[in-house]
Amino acid sequence: MKSPNEFFGAAPEVHTWAPGRVNLLGEHTDYNDGYMLPIATPQRTDVLADRSSDGRFHFYSATLDETAEFGADESSPDGFARYIEGCIRLMQARGVQVPPLKVYVRSNLALGTGLSSSAALEVATLRALRTMLKVDLDGVTLAQIAQQAEIQYAGVNCGIMDQMASSLADTEHMLFLDARTLDARLLPLPVGAEIIVIDSGVPRKLAASKYNERRSECEAAAGMLGVPSLRDVGRLADVEKLPSPLRERARHVVSENLRVLEAADSGGAISAGRFGELMNDSHASLRDDYEVSIRELDELTEVLRKHPDVYGARLTGAGFGGACVALCKTGAAQTVGQMAVNRVNAGGANARLLIPAPQR
Ligand code: GLA
Repeated sequence: MKSPNEFFGAAPEVHTWAPGRVNLLGEHTDYNDGYMLPIATPQRTDVLADRSSDGRFHFYSATLDETAEFGADESSPDGFARYIEGCIRLMQARGVQVPPLKVYVRSNLALGTGLSSSAALEVATLRALRTMLKVDLDGVTLAQIAQQAEIQYAGVNCGIMDQMASSLADTEHMLFLDARTLDARLLPLPVGAEIIVIDSGVPRKLAASKYNERRSECEAAAGMLGVPSLRDVGRLADVEKLPSPLRERARHVVSENLRVLEAADSGGAISAGRFGELMNDSHASLRDDYEVSIRELDELTEVLRKHPDVYGARLTGAGFGGACVALCKTGAAQTVGQMAVNRVNAGGANARLLIPAPQR
């Protein structure tokens, strides 16, 4: 692995970073113009950048120990470089002159666990470009460009949650997001509670194809209900007239939006107990109606839920593998999280505690 010094030869011009995200509530709602409540991870991606002296782009990922190099008129090779190139090309498309650059990336965000390491890379890269090239760019616009980099250059048809969270959230609050208006408000976590995040150890294999399938199902359901998107369905009962499985998909989205609104409408005054119940309901809805859970995530959340210090637990992110999140009593996260990991691993799982970072 190269150090920044070995890569740049001297201190680089800019150093920026951005966090990953854990979604506490509001899953598969962003591409339905709905609501969600993510929080930033303490884990983050750092981007160091400087101008290149040979007219070519040079990117290096310390996490992957991989280099990518290409000319100003060429495309980057596939892999981590696509995200960075996407950000550069989209800035150029906005009229910003971007010179050939050297970019060094390092991250302690575990890849492929559903904590949005790609959004963190995009947001940190755009922050580096903003600082270096003195571009006027607010956090919401930056998130929108980051999302386009993901869609157009990495080929992932995602919503806006991950990039908005990486750009605007912190680790102390939950961020209430409205995906239609892009309104964003920081709210306190329920009093007396903290979070646990555990990677199930199961890679998100089917994620891309199933994700796109769910998106189409939601569009079809909205079309049949005569609304622009499922966000506009007024009453939960309205979805019952849809044929299966559109009925179940729509039921998840509409009920999930109601859960987020309940959690956020009190302006952060919701009790930890009630928030936990909403998380449990969200998991059941993702498992039964939206069908994006897997056995390992059901088991992990079940083990967590049974602990007296846990208020609630659910899968987080797109599903089909990845991580789960639980809300527990302040001070209990480390012990309870490690207990749950040990329990499922004794049964052959490959889980690991991500938040709080395990003590060595
Ligand atoms: C992925 C996508 C997000 C969102 C979640 C599901 O993380 O990138 O836009 O749709 O899945 O809530």
